[in-house]
Amino acid sequence: SEMTLLWLSRQLWRHRVKGLLVTLVKRTSHEDDRRAAATTDVRPIPEDPGKARPHTSTRGHPTESKRRRPPPLAFLKIHKTGSSTVQNLLFRLGEKEKAAFAFPYYTYQFAYPERFRSQFVDELPEGAAQFDILCSHMRLDLAQLRQVMPQNTVFFTLLRDPVRTFESVFSYFTATVPAFAQAKAAAAVARKSALSVFLESPESFWDPGEIRNGLAKNPMCFDLGLNSQGWNASWPEDLAQLEDAFQLVMIAEHFDESLVLLGALLGLDHEDLAYVRLNARSAGSVATLDEGTVGRLRSWNALDVLLYDFFLQLFWEKAELYGLDRLERDAALLREAAERLRQTCVARRGVPPGDLEDLLRPWQTDTATVVGYELRANLSQQQQGRCVRLTLPELQYHTSAGKNLLIANIPGIVRHSNVHLRK
Ligand SMILES: *[C@@H]1O[C@H](CO)[C@@H](O)[C@H](O)[C@H]1NC(C)=O
Ligand SMILES: *[C@@H]1O[C@H](CO)[C@@H](O)[C@H](O)[C@H]1NC(C)=O
Repeated sequence: SEMTLLWLSRQLWRHRVKGLLVTLVKRTSHEDDRRAAATTDVRPIPEDPGKARPHTSTRGHPTESKRRRPPPLAFLKIHKTGSSTVQNLLFRLGEKEKAAFAFPYYTYQFAYPERFRSQFVDELPEGAAQFDILCSHMRLDLAQLRQVMPQNTVFFTLLRDPVRTFESVFSYFTATVPAFAQAKAAAAVARKSALSVFLESPESFWDPGEIRNGLAKNPMCFDLGLNSQGWNASWPEDLAQLEDAFQLVMIAEHFDESLVLLGALLGLDHEDLAYVRLNARSAGSVATLDEGTVGRLRSWNALDVLLYDFFLQLFWEKAELYGLDRLERDAALLREAAERLRQTCVARRGVPPGDLEDLLRPWQTDTATVVGYELRANLSQQQQGRCVRLTLPELQYHTSAGKNLLIANIPGIVRHSNVHLRK
């Protein structure tokens, strides 16, 4: 019956993909009608006003110069660290480079929270010799991941202050992580917040044998495949292995600086790195934490604190090698490029889900409101293609990029030929 369930969930997933296709076709034909009605109105607009203005990076080449093709990439997407924003950047980069994505066989993550196995990956796109980019949620198993990706793959990930990460994980997954759901039920009786009830006695809600509780303690360690339940003698060794494997561990609290270091590592320019923050909660869904709560969060997630502090120090070592002044200058240039793109694309930010069309509405959970973006109405075709991608939520980009549906239906982008719906 496990096989039947698996089969069923795959069918459901494929069905979702079809539903999205219908939405996309409707949307684009509507856009076409509108454009046809206003043909004389459309004047050629540069793809991005910023692009016409050459600026020199510290390496001294203008942004228009041909850059080398990036190496194969594996981005370990850790829950609630800001990783959707990086993933979106990789989706856009991959489309531009015609990269072969290593997508999950079904859904938008690799059988999470099971430990990653190479057979969770969908087949290589037709005509591709190797996978170029992998960036979907998983619980890491390095050896298995290495079987999927080429030898010269650059591994990188993104960590965030463990206190903020846990608060976000708790808010987003209150209903789906059993330990959190139990605390929520108890909190309703006690008329307190679910998070404070959980933190008063986390052990009483947490069953370590229940795999869906993986995110309930040290969630970043869990996603990285480390022992997340408690420290033991192999933990430092496992951490050292991660340090060896990952060329860059970005830090959410220094996000733009992290992107500059990523850009340097991969040979990307500021235009490639421009972004808008995705999958952010509405202000009302973010808890303010008093000092006592912060203390309890840190002690419950002590391994995540160790992990974060370790890689934060490494981050500053890398930053110093790059040059701190140079890093600040480049981060400022990146912010300018990102701001130009936002100005071009976005009419309204922090838009509640009810005001967003299906295509741009982020996935919601029962316990957190996730906001999105409304695009300007007067975009040229090409700008529209770029701006939709910039603000496209993870699930939509997955279903569509995975099956090349979006590419087929948003104007201005060449269609790839690796559509392969499984029978
Ligand atoms: C530490 O924990 C991990 C994961 O539970 C286990 O595989 C490993 O054998 C343990 N190491 C020691 C030295 O107990
Ligand atoms: C689109 O509209 C905005 C605000 O209404 C305006 O600032 C911008 O210049 C317009 N863009 C184009 C390409 O017409």
